[in-house]
Amino acid sequence: MERSRRDFFKTIPQTAGRVAGWTAMVQAIQAAPGLPSPNNEDYWKLVKRQFPLEDNLLYLNAANVCPASRGVLDRHLEYLRDFQSNPSFQNREKYDGLAERCRKKIAAMLRVSPDEIAFVRNTSEGANTIVKGIDLAPGDEILVTSHNHPSNLDSWKIRARRDKLVVKTLPYPVPPKSRQQLFDLYESAITPRTKVLAVTHVTSTTGVEFPARELAELARRRNLWMHLDGAQTLGALDVNLADIPCDSFAGSAHKWPMGPLEAGVLFVRASRIPEVWPSVVTAGWSDKLVGARKLEVFGQRDNPRLVALESAFDFLALVGMPHVEARMRALARRAIEGLGEHANIVMKTSSDPLLSAGVVKLELKNMAVKPAYDLLWQRHRMAIASTPEGDARGLRISPHIYNTMEEVDRAVAAVKEIAG
Ligand SMILES: Cc1ncc(COP(=O)(O)O)c(C=O)c1O
Repeated sequence: MERSRRDFFKTIPQTAGRVAGWTAMVQAIQAAPGLPSPNNEDYWKLVKRQFPLEDNLLYLNAANVCPASRGVLDRHLEYLRDFQSNPSFQNREKYDGLAERCRKKIAAMLRVSPDEIAFVRNTSEGANTIVKGIDLAPGDEILVTSHNHPSNLDSWKIRARRDKLVVKTLPYPVPPKSRQQLFDLYESAITPRTKVLAVTHVTSTTGVEFPARELAELARRRNLWMHLDGAQTLGALDVNLADIPCDSFAGSAHKWPMGPLEAGVLFVRASRIPEVWPSVVTAGWSDKLVGARKLEVFGQRDNPRLVALESAFDFLALVGMPHVEARMRALARRAIEGLGEHANIVMKTSSDPLLSAGVVKLELKNMAVKPAYDLLWQRHRMAIASTPEGDARGLRISPHIYNTMEEVDRAVAAVKEIAG
């Protein structure tokens, strides 16, 4: 092949699929080389090119905020323009149907009924809908851990202050020893006054994966309400709520689902929905609303955002949720294995694959958290998160499917460089 032609073909991998537009993105993914198996780097490099991340940014903070893919952004903008260019009731009629279509897709992914899904703004709002919405009496006990996010911890404490409830905070070692230990933690704390298990599916602090199914079965046997915080699992793990009999579950679109900001999902099991008082009641609320829809009437909604939410779930389905989970776990495992057994690195995340997912936390013996965090940003534009104090103190790395193995290796090398 002559030189210019050879050079032309060489450039294709750098540019293929790097185009805006939902349809172009779908075509690029469908034409991706091979299967989305965790080690097919060519496939995942093509996925990466669907994201508008800056070239020299080492973005490893999925547990906080994920970028939306170009296709999702494109769909969002298309519908924003549509809405703003014609806000008439006539033009907006279609959004009810689009919202229901989105509800169906999310329900199918979680293996629940669409009637059990409410659209909320985020995990926090989903959790607070439950915290404020269920009937509890003075003296009733709620079991939490200190690693719960404030939306599933401090929210219960505030409710407890108002209604004279008792919040029991359960301690566990960092990292925990076994799934059994995490299960026993809750089981052994249950008393006749216990009414709620407030559980985190995967913690944002150190990435602990709790035995959600076993705990939900326990809650069901004891007739307790179990709320499962899914902020670190919706869009990350292939969450199957038919297999995890919790009463409620909440997640945010802007994290692992790689969707828009301020769009979230609250699941409430059908049999439990009548027990939840809506936090907000305004125009559009009615006793005739079916299922969890009575928990999402917040006044005028941002309709185009729901189309972006649907697109985010379309994208996950396009790659395939089991493939997304396998790749995400493989990236995190690479980081755990790369960082472990260094004299100056203390791993806060267990090396047992059954005890963690996605989120990797570590501390350096030779440097405080803040200077290490700043140095990684200044030297490598490595965007991660940090916890300044407490037993989860350290640096948090959370890769997702838009990251390559090479990027994880670079991050590991960067941490080792400053670890000495
Ligand atoms: C475990 C967990 N729960 C809840 C939240 C709250 O999410 P949001 O701010 O999207 O409501 C977070 C955010 O990081 C989280 O990590």
